[in-house]
Amino acid sequence: MRNTLKLLAVVAALAVPLSAQGGSDTKGKFFFKKTCKSCHATGGSAKEVTPLSKTQAQWKAYFAAGKHNKGKEAITTVLKPEQVKDVQTFLVNHASDSPQPETCGG
Ligand code: HEC
Repeated sequence: MRNTLKLLAVVAALAVPLSAQGGSDTKGKFFFKKTCKSCHATGGSAKEVTPLSKTQAQWKAYFAAGKHNKGKEAITTVLKPEQVKDVQTFLVNHASDSPQPETCGG
């Protein structure tokens, strides 16, 4: 019983920082398709962007800078900060050099 409690405490301690930093891949895919793709698709108003447009390191750097539209605006003007985090998670997880590259249906 004591050990179980200890184990639970350790699990809880580990889970908090993980959920705090990590966005949701699934939600990110949804927001990416719904919002980003509304401009960034073939024939859209901006050039096509897919997870494969960048490597994992390049996507991380892109979101760390937080700029969009050639540096003219913050990426958070497009989506809420927590949604941007989800999109970042999706794009990094499926970047060109990721274990599961994904084109997001073009
Ligand atoms: C209202 C239209 C619109 C939406 C929505 C949009 N973008 Fe953009 N985006 C642009 C325009 C315009 C540019 C600059 C011209 C270009 O690169 O085609 C741009 C540029 C970019 C670039 C190239 C580098 C840069 O910043 O100039 C990336 C990467 C990018 N957007 C990612 C995203 C992501 C990720 C999302 C969703 C969170 C998103 N965009 C949503 C219009 C949009």
